[in-house]
Amino acid sequence: MDLPGAPDITLREGRLMVEGVAAVDLARRFKTPLYVYSSAVMAHALASYQNALAGRDHLLCYAVKANSALAVLQWFARRGCGFDIVSGGELERVLAAGGDPQRIVFSGVGKTRAEMERALAVDVLCFNVESIGELELLSEVASGTGRRARVSLRVNPDVDAKTHPYISTGLRANKFGIAHEDAPAAFARASRLPGIEVAGIDCHIGSQIVDADPYVDALDRLLDLVERVEADGVPLAHIDVGGGLGITYRDETPPDAGALVARLLERIDARGHGHRKIVFEPGRSLVGNAGVLVTEVLYLKPGSERNFCIVDAAMNDLMRPAMYGAWMRIVECAPAQAAAVTWDVVGPICESGDWLGRERTLAVAPGDFVAVLSAGAYAMSMASNYNTRPRAAEVMVSGSEAVLIRERESLADLTRGEHLLGDDARAPA
Ligand code: LLP
Repeated sequence: MDLPGAPDITLREGRLMVEGVAAVDLARRFKTPLYVYSSAVMAHALASYQNALAGRDHLLCYAVKANSALAVLQWFARRGCGFDIVSGGELERVLAAGGDPQRIVFSGVGKTRAEMERALAVDVLCFNVESIGELELLSEVASGTGRRARVSLRVNPDVDAKTHPYISTGLRANKFGIAHEDAPAAFARASRLPGIEVAGIDCHIGSQIVDADPYVDALDRLLDLVERVEADGVPLAHIDVGGGLGITYRDETPPDAGALVARLLERIDARGHGHRKIVFEPGRSLVGNAGVLVTEVLYLKPGSERNFCIVDAAMNDLMRPAMYGAWMRIVECAPAQAAAVTWDVVGPICESGDWLGRERTLAVAPGDFVAVLSAGAYAMSMASNYNTRPRAAEVMVSGSEAVLIRERESLADLTRGEHLLGDDARAPA
């Protein structure tokens, strides 16, 4: 089987292989549920961006939220990537993984004073500011420490990315960015604030975008603003077009990253902005197809209306199906012994919304392993402990080597920091 976007994750004679390692062997060795990532697939995705950007003044900022495992961040840092972060927690992760603060852009609508202080102290490259209130607080915080914060203003271009409403961010109705029509005044304000140094402009119109046109529309809107703001006397050194490029989960046909970048650069050049530094913030398109979630079949429960295949991974491990109705491919990890049946693949959590895939034809028996594909992005990073389920372990494969990059959580991890009540005289006998 050919897995789109994941040339090194293959089905070889019915065995799911992550590079040179069989998923079944990893499941036995590290137990399930288990996230497995292929470094070759990540390298392939990264090269697609890097090749298209070669020779350009650019910064590729991996969006940490997609997969924030320290080893994954370290992998990107070692390859010269910057990072797009949205919290103080993500900042500390990047630093712990050896990321360069001078390659960090700090996005997000709700940065706190403490987060600003810390990001200023480590001297991040840029704050992507989303409101006038944030701009004013940042100026105050920076001035208080005798610094000036480099900022980019995130503009909401009011462009429809044509994706799921929960992950569309560039519409007027979304909470993100400064409205396009308000942007010139916001830049003028920023340029007058004592603790602010205006560095650029940015936007991010959504995620899992499978069409290049909304990007070009958003870029055009940004360039209109660049011209207007510079005519007003505020120079802008960089343009940050955000992230959002989609991947193939089922039959989507997103543009290849290289093709998208080439198209945007062409537009930038055609409009006479080729000298500017360009920043990208991709997350999913760098790691999404590189990961699989391996899970064991616990029980088969055929029914009069639906057949349930109950596995040991659940919505707490993989929220995307429950939260967005996302379709993610599920395959057997080894050649089928059983007959193929149409199953709803569900987890052990006590909610009917706890499903990983519906109406999937699978030949499985209890004790077999199946894998959810394209689970490298927004899977483990969105995992929770609901139903007091420890979060899964993570493994990174490179060739024939598999490294445990995150241990499975223990029950002690889950209750750490909790306290029982003291004696309570009023408690009922
Ligand atoms: N930059 C900013 C400011 C963002 O908000 C995001 C994602 C990115 C970059 C990276 O976008 P990407 O290249 O990964 O599409 N949990 C959802 C996706 C939420 C995306 C949020 N923002 C999902 O599972 O589909």
